[in-house]
Amino acid sequence: MSEEKKQFAELKIGDKSIDLPIVIGTENEKAVDISGLRKTTGYVTLDPSFMNTASCYSSITFVDGEKGILRYRGIPIEELVEKCSFTQVAYLLIHGKLANPEERLKFSKLLNQNSLLHEDMRHFFDHFPRGAHPMHILSTMINALAVFYPNVDLLSLDEDIDLSAARLISTVRTMAAFAYKKNIGEPVVYPRHDLNYCANFLNMMFDSPVKPYDIKPEIVKLLNILLILHADHEQNCSTTAVRTIGSAQVNLYATISAGISALSGPLHGGANQAVVEMLDMIVADGGDVKKFVARAKDKNDTFRLMGFGHRVYKTYDPRAKIIKSECHKLLSTMKNKDPLYEVAMELEQVALHDEYFIERNLYPNVDFYTGIVYRALGIPSNMFTVMFALARLPGWIAHWKEMIGHHTKIVRPRQIYIGKVPADYGK
Ligand code: SDX
Repeated sequence: MSEEKKQFAELKIGDKSIDLPIVIGTENEKAVDISGLRKTTGYVTLDPSFMNTASCYSSITFVDGEKGILRYRGIPIEELVEKCSFTQVAYLLIHGKLANPEERLKFSKLLNQNSLLHEDMRHFFDHFPRGAHPMHILSTMINALAVFYPNVDLLSLDEDIDLSAARLISTVRTMAAFAYKKNIGEPVVYPRHDLNYCANFLNMMFDSPVKPYDIKPEIVKLLNILLILHADHEQNCSTTAVRTIGSAQVNLYATISAGISALSGPLHGGANQAVVEMLDMIVADGGDVKKFVARAKDKNDTFRLMGFGHRVYKTYDPRAKIIKSECHKLLSTMKNKDPLYEVAMELEQVALHDEYFIERNLYPNVDFYTGIVYRALGIPSNMFTVMFALARLPGWIAHWKEMIGHHTKIVRPRQIYIGKVPADYGK
């Protein structure tokens, strides 16, 4: 925060006036600090869905929604996708700096040591119904980690955070691949210590006893890019859930399980699956993009352009730009063109030139092209949000650690009661 001369906002209520401190962040974001408001005036502020409210100070991620900027610990994502692996970015988010060679080796060893699922947990998969959505399986299994690793309740931030972070980042990747194999009725493939994070995941997903999986470096690189782009996004819905649940001193695994549940919503991380289902529907309906854009504008129609719009970005989501370019590169190497990609590009063009979308600053967000890339990699749509969750784990862990480190009080907002008053009783 800037150390400039303290500034204040004057608030007049009736004949009373109070000065509220102005807070300015390192990227010049400005806020009126109302933490003393109720004590001094008896008033609270009202801001449903916190659209105008900063819930905390944070040093992890900076988003500029007007300029389309996204930086993790001050480093632009465009640089990180070029120069780093996903596990390096995970370390950066959690520790606030890129790992030196020694720290990198230690973290990589921890990821390997924690890549296996407890064998008793593996048998959970025998009892999930065949069509169980992998996000529900993931949320259940992560919660169960606290039963198998109870010391997480005694987690001390310094020495144990790497162990618990590695266990989550590595074991959850194994759980995700096992959930996929369960879904398709194939035997699970175990992680290997000789493969890096993304190569291991791809191998666990696509290797099989009858057809060894050919790990292509360009696909491993692409998966690293996708996971890095989804790794954090400041106070989004699921991260706010993690900070809220964590503030009650719930153990890290149960807290992350809550983040998974929040992310699964179609307005949040579930949008990548909803985008592909929407594009499938447009193709099946004959591909008349203009008809669906008209539906998205019709207030009497619940249809929305999934993958479009964002609470913070009022310009093109910088992540969507990179994913669109990677999507184009990947599909140009493939013989069979995905009809969804052509429809997605046409839909984008129509919407971006339509007054309704322009007026409301509705642009493609991170979810618009992601699903098409995952499809091209052979990942089914019910696994798309699982991919988002795998990627967001380091972001959630970093925010949980920051929240605990700031000795945050339990999150408990106020309300404005508009219900019945005693005089109404019995009416
Ligand atoms: C993610 O917060 C994050 O950072 C999230 C995320 C992350 O990394 O964690 O970036 C990931 O969740 C991306 C968003 C994925 N969701 C979708 O793609 C679902 C489709 N998009 C929307 O439902 C919507 O745009 C939201 C939920 C993303 C944002 O909604 P807001 O900020 O609450 O905006 P709103 O619903 O009030 O919309 C404002 C106006 C409304 O019209 P008017 O009432 O002003 O006439 O824009 C319209 C809306 O009807 N609108 C859309 C639209 N999104 C907004 N109209 C048609 N299609 C859309 N997709």
